[in-house]
Amino acid sequence: MEFQEVVRRRRMVRNYDPSRPVPAEIRERLLANALRAPSAGFSQGWAFLVLESAEERARYWSATVTESGEPDPWLRDMQNAPLLIVPLSHKQAYLDRYAAADKGWTDKDEARWPVPYWDIDTGFGALLMLLTAVDEDLGACFFGVPPDRMAPFRAAFGVPEEFTPIGTVSVGYRAPDRRSPSLRRGHRPVEDVVHYGSW
Ligand SMILES: Cc1cc2nc3c(=O)[nH]c(=O)nc-3n(C[C@H](O)[C@H](O)[C@H](O)COP(=O)(O)O)c2cc1C
Repeated sequence: MEFQEVVRRRRMVRNYDPSRPVPAEIRERLLANALRAPSAGFSQGWAFLVLESAEERARYWSATVTESGEPDPWLRDMQNAPLLIVPLSHKQAYLDRYAAADKGWTDKDEARWPVPYWDIDTGFGALLMLLTAVDEDLGACFFGVPPDRMAPFRAAFGVPEEFTPIGTVSVGYRAPDRRSPSLRRGHRPVEDVVHYGSW
């Protein structure tokens, strides 16, 4: 698919055909492309947890969906996704990388970091997966893991404390879904957000 078409067609897809798994070669391409993301100091302080079997996915949903009441309809449909990839950021890898001789931040002081590059870089990887899904004519969505579900999520999959799930990417063949009401906001026009030359 032509690149501009990929960008134009990308949108968050929140329902999938549960009977069609994502072919293994596409799954591997999603992951390989995520690893092409840029990273500060080429730290590559990320990890990707791939959940595919029905048991793994059920474990994900029971760990991350808040117990009280029914899940939102969008979240219910999302559970049809045959593939979940959880990108996790690893702050310590950045602190360690920048303490190396060529960087010299040996105090590993977090205050040196203008913004959390570990989350940014992992997010770049997630975006590459979203774009790759469009290129493969699949649907995908990035959605958050609630703060109070981080500990149950880590426990469910044996994830070390120092890795933080920045969200989850669901992937699959598209099924009819509800568009987010947020989309009524429309895309903000260039003149609202771009400042040429000065603010
Ligand atoms: C950091 C981030 C968190 C998001 N979290 C959720 C979420 O928890 N649930 C959801 O349905 N969509 C989530 N979204 C998707 C946004 O709602 C969506 O990107 C936005 O409405 C624009 O729609 P589009 O991506 O389809 O163009 C998230 C997107 C981002 C970038």
